[in-house]
This record gives sequence, C-alpha cells and structure tokens, in this order.
Amino acid sequence: MKPASLSLSYLVFILLLSRCSNVIMASRQLCEGHSTPVLCVGAFEGADGFLASGSEEGEVTVWNKEGTVLATLGLVSRDDVTSAVFSPEAPGLLYVSHGETVSVLDPRSLKGVVEELQGAGKEEINSLALNETGSALAVADDSGVVRVLELPGSKAIRTLRRHTNIVSSVAFRPLRPNNLVSAGLDMQVMLWSLQKTRPLWTLNLQEVVEEEDGNQQKAGQLFNPPLAHCVTVASCGNIVACAAEDGHVHLMRIGSGSKLDQQGAFKAHSQGVSQAHFLSFLPHPYWLATGGNDGLVALWDLSQNQVVTCEDKAKPQAVPANRRRPKARAKAKLQSQAKPKAQEEKETVEGEEKKEEGVEGSSMGQSPGTEESLKTGPKLSFNHGDKVNWVCPALLRGKPSLVVADQSPNLTVYSLAGL
Ligand SMILES: *[C@@H]1O[C@H](CO)[C@@H](O)[C@H](O)[C@H]1NC(C)=O
Ligand SMILES: *[C@@H]1O[C@H](CO)[C@@H](O)[C@H](O)[C@H]1NC(C)=O
Repeated sequence: MKPASLSLSYLVFILLLSRCSNVIMASRQLCEGHSTPVLCVGAFEGADGFLASGSEEGEVTVWNKEGTVLATLGLVSRDDVTSAVFSPEAPGLLYVSHGETVSVLDPRSLKGVVEELQGAGKEEINSLALNETGSALAVADDSGVVRVLELPGSKAIRTLRRHTNIVSSVAFRPLRPNNLVSAGLDMQVMLWSLQKTRPLWTLNLQEVVEEEDGNQQKAGQLFNPPLAHCVTVASCGNIVACAAEDGHVHLMRIGSGSKLDQQGAFKAHSQGVSQAHFLSFLPHPYWLATGGNDGLVALWDLSQNQVVTCEDKAKPQAVPANRRRPKARAKAKLQSQAKPKAQEEKETVEGEEKKEEGVEGSSMGQSPGTEESLKTGPKLSFNHGDKVNWVCPALLRGKPSLVVADQSPNLTVYSLAGL
C-alpha cells in the first residue's frame, strides 16, 4: 500500500488540446500496480468505488477512486488475466478470468482467492460478463463456446455453441433478462436468449463488409477482415456496438421481438478496433468509448446515428423522388465527394433528413449518420500513443473518465470533464 501523498507525486499530467471542443483535457498515469502489461480493467460504480486491473502473468490489482493501489495479488497459476468484472450487487465480489479458470476475489481484502470456478472454460477464457443482479456469469472462451453459470454455486445453466472460432467478447443485454450478445473471430455477432440453445439471430460482419465492397472497389483499398474483438450493449438494452479488426465499429439495433432491426458501421480507427464500451453515466446512453491498435482512444456521440434514431423498420427504403429536398441533396453531395454513387443516394435520403430533424434542440449541432461519423469524427479523441488493450469508462471522484490499459504496466486516466 502507498501513502496517497507519494502516489500523487507520481501523477503525470499531460495536457492535450481536444480538437473538437477547445477544452484542455488532462490525463494522468496510475502506476505501481503492475509489473507486466495490463490486459483488462473493471470498475465498480458503488459508493466505495473500486477499479480492478489484471495483467500478464497473473497479477490482479485493486485501486481506489483516487487511483491509489489498495492491494495486489499474484495468482498462483501465473496465467494472463484476461477479464475482471465486479458484481453489480455485492462490492465484495470480483471475478477474474485466467487460463481456463475464473477466480472469485474479495476486492476489499485481496489476500487470496475466495473461490475457483473450475471448468468455467474449456480453453483460455477471453471475456466475462455478469447480469444485472450478479446472479449469472457468462464466460466466453477460445473453444468457441459461451457458458452461463448460475451464481452462487457456479452451476452451468447454458452452454451456447454456435461460434466457429474463438469467442472474444460477451455482454448481457441491460433491461432484458436472459438475453446476451457474443462476438468472435468467426466475424459473427449473435444474440442469445437463455431459453434457447440457438441464437435468436446472427450477423455475419464479413457478409456486411462484402456487400459494401462493391462500392469500395474503386478506391482500391484493402481492409482487414472484421474479426470481432469487443461487444457492448447500451444501457437502453437495444443498441449493440462491436469493435472489429477492419477499423470499424459495427452497430446493431434490436427491435421488438428481439429482431435485428437495423445495422450499420462507421470507421472509428485507422487500424483494428480492440475496444468499444458504452458509457452508462452520461445524460443519454449512446456515448461510446473506443480504443484501437492505432493508439487512439475516442469518445463518440451516437445519439444522432441512423441506427440509433431510426424507427422500427427493416431496411432503408428508397424514398420517392418528390420527397427529396434540393438543399439536403446538395449538402449530401458536398459531404460525400469521395463516396460511391449507390451510397451517396442512400445517405441523401437517410442521413440528411435525420440531420435536419436532429439539429434542433441539439447543443452539438452535428449529427453523425452511419457513414457521416467519418466526417464529423469523435466528440473527443486522445492520442494515447501505444496500442490499446482495454478502455474502461468509470466515474472517478464523480468525474466521468476513461481508464486505458496498454502494453505497459501503467494505467492512464483521461478525464471527460470537458464534455
Ligand atoms: C440473472 O440471472 C439469473 C440466473 O439465470 C436469473 O434468475 C435472473 O433473472 C437474471 N437477472 C437479470 C436481471 O437478468
Ligand atoms: C509509469 O509511470 C511512471 C510514473 O509516471 C513513469 O515513471 C514510468 O516511466 C511509467 N512506465 C511506463 C512503462 O510507461
């Protein structure tokens, strides 16, 4: 344990000028918690809030909201710690995955492992998720399986087998008990109901990309395949975002009857996107934090995105010519100079009409549509420099922040106070 005054002397303040808002943003480093690269970060948002981080070779560290190390534990197995989640109900329960095992820890007294959930994974576990009551734990592993364990007791209540490759990420759907989303290196995103062993729907990101390829061929660009790295569901329960290797964040809207209602994507990073997490503590639920192999960390306001704003309807429909407004068309043309014809047409209809409706009453005065995000960019962007392993949104001392882990043993905290 470190006295607060000593830790404070280690804080490094880096001043960054946000290109969007002209607000000076501060970041600071949290150090002395690990000796190996940090792979995952979790936050507990209760009154006695904690952060937990896991790193290579089995290190787990618990921090207080000031960023002071409370305790460090070295797991005997020395396997990389790939995921750390707090029970939303009980501050004394922290679940960490390492190798094929999930360990239960007490973050208030990190003396040893409270319990080991054996057989939680058949191969290396990549992702853990707890449901809202902390009574179901979803475990995604390299064998392509998602297991759901009932807590306490860790009885396996479901084994979900449909992915054909490593499952990299799993998330419960807020407000919809028994629904969860998984994503994997098979480039598939699946929505599951725990009542069924088959997914309610599957979105193949590669097919989505191939459909759009027809439009992009002329640009002669080659993209990485959309291997899915991280999936997140907004607190409304209906918007899914998936970070992918193709540099895009893929968006899905779940409609009535849990149908896949609408999907889209926006280019978020110049290289693979490793992280995407919706923030649950800002005025609307459509703020998304992303991190990528390009060393950037970004915060996006998706509240005006087509996938978020659209009414329940299957696909964008052609709009009769007489409904097109000349002004909107001219504007769309300007914005889509480098864009292929078919897409331009779609956006004239979809993006611009939304924009005209959306600007009123919006203090931002900008409206990122599916592809428009490319132009308007993120609300905030931090040049972190190093490849990003994890981005964890957290309220630290009441301030909205992003905690970023990279290839180093330090964590970096970016303040979002400038929003
Ligand atoms: C969490 O999971 C348990 C066990 O499956 C279930 O009984 C409970 O209803 C779930 N709660 C929520 C809010 O999803
Ligand atoms: C971690 O932070 C400390 C204190 O700011 C700094 O001295 C050290 O160089 C950092 N280490 C890395 C690997 O960035």
